[in-house]
Amino acid sequence: MSKKNNLYQLSAIKENRERLKAAATFNLSPLELVQKEYFELVVKTVLSALKCKDNYTWGHSLRVAYFCVSVGREMGFSDKEIYELEVSALFHDIGKIGVPDSVLLKPSRLTDKEFLEMKLHPNKSYEILAEFPIFQKMAINAKYHHERFDGRGYPDGLKGDDIPLFSRIILISDTFDAMTSTRPYRKGLPFDVAFAELKEFAGTQFDPQIVDKFIACMTKEQNKNEATFNLQIIQGDFKKNAA
Ligand SMILES: [Fe+2]
Repeated sequence: MSKKNNLYQLSAIKENRERLKAAATFNLSPLELVQKEYFELVVKTVLSALKCKDNYTWGHSLRVAYFCVSVGREMGFSDKEIYELEVSALFHDIGKIGVPDSVLLKPSRLTDKEFLEMKLHPNKSYEILAEFPIFQKMAINAKYHHERFDGRGYPDGLKGDDIPLFSRIILISDTFDAMTSTRPYRKGLPFDVAFAELKEFAGTQFDPQIVDKFIACMTKEQNKNEATFNLQIIQGDFKKNAA
């Protein structure tokens, strides 16, 4: 056998071992494993569409997923719940595919009319995902990620515990990334300043209990001093402070 074929076989064996390891983690039958792999291919494909539309929103979605998963672990969620949270976070802004470039990519302040257009994106995320039966929970989590704890958010003005738990976590992670990530027109805020901002709006905009957990978790993450993060579904080392 040629050296090239040998290398190919080795990588196939390694890949298979990784697949079996993943199946064991989730206690899956071979059929369920194939379904999971197809599911993840669909997730990746839809996210590639978002990347083509707006590279920043794609990176933002990955970072929000990383924050959500970290805080989800801090809150003691099961592996299955963490998985649902990760996919929901990856997809929370997928509806931005339907926002015109002139609004989505505008570097300056939006007009009232443009802001109304932007505010349609959670409903659009829901519309994109809800038809696909396996994405239904994620569709609901994405739909409500701009609801505020005091009931003054959108699209439906849900309040407190009526807002799905994962949507409340996504909102905090989303706002944190919006504050700390660097854009071409402004530098990201330091974590401490963003923490103070989250605390100020705990109880009005954000669920106060999750804010406490989030800050504790992000402080630990910051102390690890790692430049990159990983996700379960999308492979790669992603930069924590990418623009
Ligand atoms: Fe959003």
